Amino acid sequence: MKIAVLKEAAGEPRVAAIPETVKKYIALGATVSVERGAGEGASIADEAFAEAGATLAERSALLADADIILCVNGPDALTARAGAGAVLVGALDPLRRRQAINGYAAAGLEALAMEWMPRITRAQSMDILSSQSNLAGYKAVVDAASAFGRAFPMMMTAAGTISPAKLFVMGVGVAGLQAIATGRRLGAQVSATDVRSATREQIQSLGAKPIFVENVAGIEGEGAGGYAGEMSDEYKAAQAELVSNHIAKQDIVITTALIPGRRAPRLISDAQLASMRAGSVVVDLAADAGGNVEGCVVGETITRHGVRIIGARNLAASLAADSSALFARNLYNFLSAFWDKEAGRPVLPDEDEIVKAIRLTRNGKVVNERLA
Ligand code: NAI
Repeated sequence: MKIAVLKEAAGEPRVAAIPETVKKYIALGATVSVERGAGEGASIADEAFAEAGATLAERSALLADADIILCVNGPDALTARAGAGAVLVGALDPLRRRQAINGYAAAGLEALAMEWMPRITRAQSMDILSSQSNLAGYKAVVDAASAFGRAFPMMMTAAGTISPAKLFVMGVGVAGLQAIATGRRLGAQVSATDVRSATREQIQSLGAKPIFVENVAGIEGEGAGGYAGEMSDEYKAAQAELVSNHIAKQDIVITTALIPGRRAPRLISDAQLASMRAGSVVVDLAADAGGNVEGCVVGETITRHGVRIIGARNLAASLAADSSALFARNLYNFLSAFWDKEAGRPVLPDEDEIVKAIRLTRNGKVVNERLA
């Protein structure tokens, strides 16, 4: 059983294995081959992989006899054909990269999209969305602090007092919770909102103030599988009014709201941006999914009405050493959970909830229900 670790395309510093997981795969009985330079962006030298027991190879040699191919982002095309039936594991972005998925099927690969991992207790340690969102939530606050021309904590100095920054988090999933915690650690006054009423207690337990729409039909907010659903028009109007009043008093806003399979909900209008104090900073973590903030440009920082709007893209990648380590462990946790010691390889039962959710292609065909 040979596991191949790809070097990512330019612009992606993360890597799908780290020396620690290489050792663990070898302990399972596999051999591991890493594409030369794969760890560079995450500060892992080829030698470190070699010391862990991996061989280093160029892409064509790497793929020639690979049984399992690990990647962060799905490659557009695999230059050398991997053995038929080889398993490709990574963040494959199936809805936006349908062509590439068809290509994996045609190449005889079994493609597994880790971002479609179901939200069940058993799969928590395999969840790449959680591990990467956590770091993104932290980095969003650090980036906001760096773009903000004022301090976060209250400071009493001989020259006078600096008041604490007011930070508002919209969308309290994994990224939002970490943004709240980070804002609190830096000394900001933090408030937060979400459509899922279950988040109210979580916000309070982190020492932040919950800002919630009350007495409106359809405030349950809980969609399928612990994710948010689309809200009613009545709810959206009430939310917009509540946010308008609150946002005008904020210095920093971090938005993280996503609805799976849909465009990100619009949470902040241009008029609301105009109501904010000059010098305020907004970080839109949903920029890549269409944006929570009107006018936000993905991958860029723009200024409107004196407010800086950061259209965050792949923030976890800017902490490549940590995000690679968590990502690599997610992949290991998944493969080892299904590892059959006698067969010396992972065995993925058709009827398993995890397998059903993440398997995209098999035996030359696209097999996932969501891609039907
Ligand atoms: P997400 O990235 O899909 O969305 C971020 C947040 O935005 C969510 O909390 C969502 O409710 C909120 N949101 C959506 N529309 C909104 C709107 N119009 N206004 C304000 N907020 C809005 O969610 P994420 O971070 O992936 O987590 C969602 C939940 O799933 C969390 O409770 C998390 O703990 C749970 N989870 C469970 C896992 C497991 O059991 N394996 C793994 C990952 C997450």
